[in-house]
Formats: sequence, structure tokens, C-alpha cells
Amino acid sequence: MFRPVAQIPLDYSVFKDKKSIFSWAPSGAIIFGNGAAAKTGEELKKLGVKKAVLVTDQGLVKVGIAGKVIESVKNAGIALAVYDQCEADSSVETVEKITELLDGADVVIGLGGGSSMDPAKAAAIVATNGGSIRDYQGCDKFEKAPLPIVAIPTAAGTGSECTPFAVIADRQREWKMPIGGTGIMPALAICDPELTYSLPASITAATGMDALTHAIEAYTSRCTEPISDALASQAIRLIAHAIRPAVFRGDSDKDARYDMMMGAMLGGYAFTSASLGISHCMAHPLGAQYHVPHGVANALCLPVVMEFNMGAWPERYADIAGFFGVDTYGMSVREAAKAGVDCVYELLEDMPVKPLEAYGVTEESLDRLADDAMLGGDRPNNARMTTKEDFIKLYRKVMTLKKEK
Ligand SMILES: [Fe+2]
Repeated sequence: MFRPVAQIPLDYSVFKDKKSIFSWAPSGAIIFGNGAAAKTGEELKKLGVKKAVLVTDQGLVKVGIAGKVIESVKNAGIALAVYDQCEADSSVETVEKITELLDGADVVIGLGGGSSMDPAKAAAIVATNGGSIRDYQGCDKFEKAPLPIVAIPTAAGTGSECTPFAVIADRQREWKMPIGGTGIMPALAICDPELTYSLPASITAATGMDALTHAIEAYTSRCTEPISDALASQAIRLIAHAIRPAVFRGDSDKDARYDMMMGAMLGGYAFTSASLGISHCMAHPLGAQYHVPHGVANALCLPVVMEFNMGAWPERYADIAGFFGVDTYGMSVREAAKAGVDCVYELLEDMPVKPLEAYGVTEESLDRLADDAMLGGDRPNNARMTTKEDFIKLYRKVMTLKKEK
């Protein structure tokens, strides 16, 4: 059966300097490479799985990706139930429907982006702990080990295949609930870059910018440590070089798709330990209140947040310039840091993402958005302290980016 994931509590209460102790709890296993998804059944069989539940969405059913995984699992002689109605920003209600299917299952498979993998994780908690997913908001709020999770990402973005986190939308409260605990780190991640070949440019851009945000926020948070630094820096390098070819010729540039999926995965591991920053604090209310896709929200917030944070840790932002390929020889640290921020502004200019105004965000929206951003769990981990007034100014600046064409 599955190798248990170490149940080490998540702890972001300390700045991980050289005097502090940090823990590292890796996932069960990773299978990575072109064609890996077709081996899902074979791999589950090796792990002794008899009954599985697949969680996915209609889009993946239509393009045949879900069918490929279903065929692989059934050919391995494993009983399979399918929930294929996940929606963007999966909700509490979706988690309830998935949980109903989990009775007697050995494993839950999340196939898709965060909107499929996250509710699979959330249902895995409720299946063994009971109650509602609302009871488990926060870190380490569940007692019993969740059902083992297998994650198969179909976009290079969220990194949920290798994080102990899920984000579930509570539509009643217009709030995105963060749920964390090492028990929901997937026991097995099957990463197949081929599953991303048919993704349109707009989704490749949004998800890819989310992955870049994870890597940059993990590299510049107050909770960095040497292992997360190694992973985050390599994630930034890979994504910085692969995102444009993946967005603009992702149907044929297989190397770019491979590097994006690897970068997203490494970024996920990095922020599992180092946490994130205020771009995510700003992105979640934009998603919950205005349905701005998570990746679009981060794409728009990231450069503005980097510019705000830059002075708090210029050496790190100077490194980022180097990861993007800027020759920083002869520059001061501050000049190099500014060059790192400029790289991300320029990247955003090239990305096919819509501006905030397209989602109905106006000056009147900013007060409530800033209130909710203040509640973001990653705010204390951000390189620079942030007040409500800061958030209002940051949102205002984000609104000026990328005019609708
Ligand atoms: Fe994210």
C-alpha cells in the first residue's frame, strides 16, 4: 500500500534563519515524463489499489484526457467511480458531492488543474474525518489521515500535485478557504507534460504566471531556507525561459511544455516550505469576489508586488534578474533588483491576460478587497510588512496595468 507521508505540522511562525530549525516533508512519489499518465493504472496496481475515484472536469472529458486515464485504470482491473463536474474555483458543494463517492475507495485521483486536484484533496479529508470541509480551514485542522491522494496535473500552474494545500471556494461568504496539512500532500504525483499540449495560450499564460508567482514568492518570503531556495531558483529559471514558447507555440514546443511542468512542480515544493507572499493575499479576494482566474490575478499582481517588496530584500530580486538571463555585471544590487522587477513587467506585457477592468473591478471595490487581503495567511511571511493602505495602493496600481484591447 501507499508509503505514508510524514505527518509533520506546517510551521510558518519562524523566520528560517540559521538559528532556527525547519522541517521538510516530501511527497510519497513522483512519476514525471511524456506519456506518464497512461501508466496510471499500472502504478495504482503496484500500490495495491482496488477501488479508486477519479475527480475531473467536463473540459478534460471532452478533449479525451480523462478517457485516457480512465482506460488505464480500468485496464489494470481497478474499480473506478468518476466525478467529472468540477468547476473553476471548486466549491464546498463540489467537495460534498465527491465525498459521497469515496465510500470504500482506497484512493482519490485528482486529474486537472487546482480546480480538480484541490477538491479531491479536500474530499479526502472529509471522507476520513467527517463534518464539512469548512471545519478544516487553516493548517493541520484534521486529526485522522486523509484518504491517499494521487494528483495528475493537466496544466503547469498550481503545483497542487506536490503541495499539502488546497483552496476551496466558499460561495456564501465570497471567500477562498485555504486548507493545509501534510496529510494532503499527494502520495503519488503523475506529471505528464503531454497533457498540456492542447491548452490554449490564455490558460497556459495564466497558469504559468501562477507557477512563476509561487517560485518568486517562495524565493523572497521570510520563510526561505536552503532547500526551498534551490527549488525556487531553478523553478524561476525554467519558467522564465519556457513560458513564452509554451504560451505562443505550446502545440509544438515540447521542451517548453516539459520545462513549464517541471518548473510548476518545483515551485510547488518550494512554497510548501517557504510559503508565499502578498501577491497571493491579493489574488484570492479578486477570485472570490470578482471571479478573476487565480493565474490572471497573480499575473497582474506579481510585478507590482515585486516593485513594492524590492527594497526589503534587493539581493534576492537581483538574483531574479540573473535567473531571467539578465547580465548584471557592473550593476549595483539595486539596479540589478530593478532589472529583475522589469523582467516580470515585460513578461506581463507579452502575456495574453485581461486587465482587472474586464472583471468589473473598480475604485469602489478596493476597500473590501484590501480588507480581505489583510486576512491572507501569507501576509506575515511577505518580505515587507503590508498595511491595508498599502493594499489599496497596490490594487490601484494593478488596475492601471494592461488596458483592454
Ligand atoms: Fe497560486
